[in-house]
Amino acid sequence: MASSLYSFLLALSIVYIFVAPTHSTSRTALNHRHEAKVTGFQIMLEHVDSGKNLTKFQLLERAIERGSRRLQRLEAMLNGPSGVETSVYAGDGEYLMNLSIGTPAQPFSAIMDTGSDLIWTQCQPCTQCFNQSTPIFNPQGSSSFSTLPCSSQLCQALSSPTCSNNFCQYTYGYGDGSETQGSMGTETLTFGSVSIPNITFGCGENNQGFGQGNGAGLVGMGRGPLSLPSQLDVTKFSYCMTPIGSSTPSNLLLGSLANSVTAGSPNTTLIQSSQIPTFYYITLNGLSVGSTRLPIDPSAFALNSNNGTGGIIIDSGTTLTYFVNNAYQSVRQEFISQINLPVVNGSSSGFDLCFQTPSDPSNLQIPTFVMHFDGGDLELPSENYFISPSNGLICLAMGSSSQGMSIFGNIQQQNMLVVYDTGNSVVSFASAQCGAS
Ligand SMILES: *[C@@H]1O[C@H](CO)[C@@H](O)[C@H](O)[C@H]1NC(C)=O
Ligand SMILES: *[C@@H]1O[C@H](CO)[C@@H](O)[C@H](O)[C@H]1NC(C)=O
Ligand SMILES: *[C@@H]1O[C@H](CO)[C@@H](O)[C@H](O)[C@H]1NC(C)=O
Ligand SMILES: *[C@@H]1O[C@H](CO)[C@@H](O)[C@H](O)[C@H]1NC(C)=O
Ligand SMILES: *[C@@H]1O[C@H](CO)[C@@H](O)[C@H](O)[C@H]1NC(C)=O
Ligand SMILES: *[C@@H]1O[C@H](CO)[C@@H](O)[C@H](O)[C@H]1NC(C)=O
Ligand SMILES: *[C@@H]1O[C@H](CO)[C@@H](O)[C@H](O)[C@H]1NC(C)=O
Repeated sequence: MASSLYSFLLALSIVYIFVAPTHSTSRTALNHRHEAKVTGFQIMLEHVDSGKNLTKFQLLERAIERGSRRLQRLEAMLNGPSGVETSVYAGDGEYLMNLSIGTPAQPFSAIMDTGSDLIWTQCQPCTQCFNQSTPIFNPQGSSSFSTLPCSSQLCQALSSPTCSNNFCQYTYGYGDGSETQGSMGTETLTFGSVSIPNITFGCGENNQGFGQGNGAGLVGMGRGPLSLPSQLDVTKFSYCMTPIGSSTPSNLLLGSLANSVTAGSPNTTLIQSSQIPTFYYITLNGLSVGSTRLPIDPSAFALNSNNGTGGIIIDSGTTLTYFVNNAYQSVRQEFISQINLPVVNGSSSGFDLCFQTPSDPSNLQIPTFVMHFDGGDLELPSENYFISPSNGLICLAMGSSSQGMSIFGNIQQQNMLVVYDTGNSVVSFASAQCGAS
């Protein structure tokens, strides 16, 4: 049902429904400028390692390695001492999108990141730029570029803007030494055939510590005012991620296209933290392995609103799911006791727990895994939590976090329609064949 609805929407979206009536009682004055904007479009997403001729083992190893670095960055955002010059942001991710900037439109690819807000791309003149596959954007060659005045609300939305000759300057640091710096501007961004004027972005002239081949910038999809959904004033978006190693692209629907998706149930209440308003915290009450409800106190996943610790976020850019250590150990023990197979060391591929599979695969019984959300139980398909990185081995695609925050990662979300509805403060899930039409 959900998947046929989804196919229908995909077909619909090819016709690109856009420029619809304004719903102009917008939430904030900030967004009045986009009244006549596009109300919905589709963006194809490609895995960062797609097309690199890597084995499944290599793909997983690389994705898990990036994911564990991301976990550290996300956790560092919570611990960042206030008063430091730059804040720390997640700043990478697993999915790339194609878009264009300026007039005439210059194509580039960028990471989609649900863990940060700023939209940025490398800009000339570069003090320091990394190699990108498309020409580096030159704002002087674009008729639609404007600088952002320091008094603008979106300049003030940066955590530590500086002002130089009334040009708003930004610095975004990513915790591991990578950093982008430059001037804030406004530009026309084009997604497919849909152009949206006056989007505020960072024109990165000094970009250090970024790996190459992973796009020419980043599109923040977080909950803060600078993110793409916030600037478009859309309160709903959805994505459907194909499994790692699939050659079929994933996709992202924004605005009215996502509005017509009613995934409904199971769902989970979105909570916004005043300490890190960017993150999508969800409401998880417990976990079951097989028929066993694990003895985990629900407070293990609760956000402490007084100091911003704890909680569980949903993220597109973290590969594995990480639970706080007590909860993870409980999951791990229960799988070991229910799966009657030898435990083997899987740490070379980045997994914590692996089993040696029986020679007759029909003897392999994988217990169910259920996430008990406040809006219903999400039973994951087994391939979303047990993965075979190589023959003879199956590994649990989960791990333990160390700083008290848990993360619902992207392997667990594959082949699911995930609808982020910030207007109703809910995220809902429906199983789907992503990328199928
Ligand atoms: C983005 O553009 C590049 C170059 O044209 C193309 O190879 C790639 O498949 C595109 N990716 C997506 C997700 O559309
Ligand atoms: C892909 O990798 C395999 C093994 O590493 C190699 O044999 C093959 O030639 C590669 N194919 C391409 C198109 O590069
Ligand atoms: C970047 O590209 C230039 C020109 O194509 C090349 O000479 C240089 O080696 C590249 N740098 C890196 C670090 O790959
Ligand atoms: C662009 O948006 C800003 C608010 O951020 C607004 O002041 C300005 O008038 C807008 N410009 C155009 C051309 O719409
Ligand atoms: C969330 O799920 C519950 C059932 O658990 C359902 O009653 C409710 O309508 C759903 N909410 C939304 C916004 O879909
Ligand atoms: C944050 O608050 C929670 C609950 O009030 C408390 O248990 C925890 O120790 C606090 N953590 C820090 C780092 O202050
Ligand atoms: C697993 O293997 C890694 C090396 O691949 C080693 O460092 C680690 O100690 C091993 N763990 C156990 C529990 O044997």
